[in-house]
Amino acid sequence: MCGIVGYIGTQAASSILIEGLKTLEYRGYDSAGVATISEGQLQRTRAKGKLKNLQVKLEGLEDPARLGIGHTRWATHGKPEEHNAHPHTDTKERIAVVQNGIIENYRELREELKAKGHEFRSDTDTEVIPHLIAEYLENPTGDAVLTEQSRLLEAARHAMTRLEGAFAIALISLDFPDELIVVRQQAPLVIGFGQGEFFCASDTPAIMPYTQAVLTLENGEIARLTPLGAEVYDFTGHRLKKYPQTLNWNPIMVEKQGFKHFMLKEIYEQPGVVRTCLETYLDTAWDTQSSHSPIKLNLPDALLDDLQHVQILACGTSWHASLVGKYLLEQVSGIPTVVQYASEFRYAPAPLMPHTLTIGVTQSGETADTLAALDMEQQRRSKSGNADYSPRMLGITNRADSSLSRLVPHIVDTKAGLEIGVAATKTFVAQLMAFYFLSLDLAYRRQAISLERLAEIIEGLRQLPAQLELVLESQERYVEELSHDFSETRDFIFIGRGINYPIALEGALKLKEISYIHAEGYPAGEMKHGPIALLDEKVPVVAIATKGTVYEKVLSNAQEAKARDARLIGVVPMNDPDAEETFDALLPVPNVDELLSPILTVVPLQLLSYHIAARRGLDVDQPRNLAKSVTVE
Ligand code: F6R
Repeated sequence: MCGIVGYIGTQAASSILIEGLKTLEYRGYDSAGVATISEGQLQRTRAKGKLKNLQVKLEGLEDPARLGIGHTRWATHGKPEEHNAHPHTDTKERIAVVQNGIIENYRELREELKAKGHEFRSDTDTEVIPHLIAEYLENPTGDAVLTEQSRLLEAARHAMTRLEGAFAIALISLDFPDELIVVRQQAPLVIGFGQGEFFCASDTPAIMPYTQAVLTLENGEIARLTPLGAEVYDFTGHRLKKYPQTLNWNPIMVEKQGFKHFMLKEIYEQPGVVRTCLETYLDTAWDTQSSHSPIKLNLPDALLDDLQHVQILACGTSWHASLVGKYLLEQVSGIPTVVQYASEFRYAPAPLMPHTLTIGVTQSGETADTLAALDMEQQRRSKSGNADYSPRMLGITNRADSSLSRLVPHIVDTKAGLEIGVAATKTFVAQLMAFYFLSLDLAYRRQAISLERLAEIIEGLRQLPAQLELVLESQERYVEELSHDFSETRDFIFIGRGINYPIALEGALKLKEISYIHAEGYPAGEMKHGPIALLDEKVPVVAIATKGTVYEKVLSNAQEAKARDARLIGVVPMNDPDAEETFDALLPVPNVDELLSPILTVVPLQLLSYHIAARRGLDVDQPRNLAKSVTVE
């Protein structure tokens, strides 16, 4: 949540800041602002609402500054008004600060600083930071291990030791016009290295057009960037040796490439994503005569052998993918599995179970609740003193460069490429692929599956990219037309059973997120225990009914809804007479192995929510109140 950018060098800072903020707007878009320093002036411009409002304010302003910071906000403390927009300054307006995160002890710091004469002008937690730094600049205290040239760094470092919470910060000062200070404490921050110039940002896409050489700060690190170099210190003031790494991302990933929205582009990228996952994690030479696993996750035996339980921690769409994972781990690998909301688990963890694999699933790798829950679990198990409970931690993420990969020792990279649309689509499908690979690998290791059945599922997986292409080709026009029927609809119900129950949840979440229509996902068999009371001719029911163990059951549940006048839309197998008879509208998908069906059934639901929202003229890629990466609790 919230995006930070910063620049110091030889180019015009403000256009670099605005371009960077454009790519970070997915992190929050309640307000935006920039501050630059040139010719003895600190210039600050802020605007409520989306970045374009800030751009309008900046139009025509000549700003020669070569140093600046910028911010796009997702409000936590204080309403999304201009006076709460970042950057924030100290009383004398000589220091400007942008922050992503939450300063938990801001109330007491604010009182302390007010008592010393500092004047506050916002309702935010962030504003204490420039005041605190100003205080330490005027009254240096403590163990100054740094030189006179780095007084700003020293004051900022002292200030950091007073802050509680999770945050990333960038700051500049009129009195130090050749310095950009950046800090990371539990919220992401990267530094980009150019020729005589440095960039900083909450996420790499903001600096990708300028440099591929990137240093990711670790928690508890503070860096001083000047045109001459980058110095990194820990919060005790000791200098650290750090070197940038080269990114292998491509700037084209942050363009829409002819699609109206990133979400639609990302839906269309799904066949390619599945292909990449198969190429990466499947041994193409494997057959039933081979004496090794067909899956190449490269995870150590100590992590996966003799497992008795799996517990999965996740939020949102990643939690839905984890429910599919649970189905696979239990039904294919034979391992009892629980899936917990990370935000709930943190405050009510279940008693420890022995020989347990803990999996954190987060596409961004930055979700605060998921990281905190994993950290807590890792520590709880390490401290138990019992080898049976020792931590076995695995992360599933689309960002191998994220905080998650620093926290847990093993990662499955879902390889979906950067996802910009706030509503997760291709990363969800990639998470499902990770669970197919993991459950098949475990099933092979535990001999829980026959080699013939394993070969059958693998063959099914190989067909998926072409089948996804078929679904996209055959359905987009029809779904677009169908979306016209729902211009007035206020409620939707999605039902599914078994492995497709999480897909019903995901279909409902997608619709809620981007179209603001109330939608509920429900296990089809549970409808008659309450929610069926909601049904009438105004409430469409979308049922996922694919061939397999629960096909007839779902058709019966759909009939029960029809008998209450609900309009029935079916995600069903292609050319299926029973389905044609039951449903008012059909969203057919190829008739595949039930286990693999979620990869296909989710696509018509993504398209349906996309077209309903786009038709209503809504901001599909940046829906209200949401942010792509939820880095606050
Ligand atoms: C839904 C969506 C959110 C995220 C959730 C977790 O479309 O994007 O529900 O799934 O915020 O995010 P990650 O996976 O980054 O932990």
